[in-house]
Amino acid sequence: MAKAFSGIQPTGEITLGNYIGALRNWQPDPGSFYCVVDMHSLSQPWEPAELRENIRSTAALLLALGLGEGSHVFVQSHVPEHAELAWILNCLGRMGELSRMTQFKSKGRGKVDVSVGLFTYPLLMASDILLYRVEEVPVGEDQKQHVELTRDMAERFNSRFGPVFTVPAPRIAKLGARVMSLRNPLEKMSKSDPDPNSKILLSDGEDAISKKIMTAVTDSGREVAYDPKEKPGVSNLLEIASILSGESVAALAERYRDQGYGAFKRGVAEIVVAAVRPLREKVEGLLEDPAEIDRQLEQGRAAAEREAKPMLGQVKRAIGLV
Ligand code: AMP
Ligand code: TRP
Repeated sequence: MAKAFSGIQPTGEITLGNYIGALRNWQPDPGSFYCVVDMHSLSQPWEPAELRENIRSTAALLLALGLGEGSHVFVQSHVPEHAELAWILNCLGRMGELSRMTQFKSKGRGKVDVSVGLFTYPLLMASDILLYRVEEVPVGEDQKQHVELTRDMAERFNSRFGPVFTVPAPRIAKLGARVMSLRNPLEKMSKSDPDPNSKILLSDGEDAISKKIMTAVTDSGREVAYDPKEKPGVSNLLEIASILSGESVAALAERYRDQGYGAFKRGVAEIVVAAVRPLREKVEGLLEDPAEIDRQLEQGRAAAEREAKPMLGQVKRAIGLV
């Protein structure tokens, strides 16, 4: 299996979009690292008490997925090499290329009161990845451009200072790379959307999940068919159901074709509830055992340090700091 690195921000609560687009593609493998990127969460305004709690619950989720056993789970700020390499990459990245990042364009461009960190955050992300010599970065579609910037940085560094970094590639699933909002199927489902009905949280109970899916915005007409352009709402629900049930989109569309949106949504809700429940229960169980969380995170930190320290040393020697 290829060595992988990926990260998730402990900003707000984890959504079904995070799970389908990213987490479910994170494989436990002894060479892979999965990170709660808490320093990324500082790029937008935050509340200390909330952040502290979200770091904990996000870590518990990664551990509940079993990623702390076969691979390594750690918290970004526990390994200071990330911030140190980020400064070096800040001095090698260019204003022009960062200005082209679509995420910055949509969240910050033209505003004077956004943080400088929001602008440079792709270079912190590049540091996360490059410290671990990984080949693959499993992410959702929205992070593809940031992984490509990471490749560019690695190639530029290697050609100027010698072959230090492994050049990584994004790994993006064909289906579910962009789960859409339940309120507006033309926008992605996002943790930071203030409308709670736009997103399913992995901490949601059965009633909340059913209600959100039953009130999801669907399209005109009443035929259940997969057509992301003409029927984005129905197609989004079909993708979600297909991924979580393992049944093909075609088979699901066929079964519900003439049954109307009501019956279709009840079917989708059942599938989502069945997929989320065991995860939620595992996370809740683990949160009751803080010592176990700490133990696994410390193991992850130590393993991460064993990779990150020598890598940063190599970088410093290559650029002339040592
Ligand atoms: P974030 O919530 O920005 O920390 O994202 C963590 C991971 O989830 C990244 O790999 C994202 O690409 C992925 N992700 C976030 N939202 C979605 C979505 N709506 N559909 C698919 N993947 C997503
Ligand atoms: N920027 C990513 C996001 O918002 C999170 C992230 C930070 C990440 N560092 C990473 C993802 C390294 C993959 C690899 O979703």
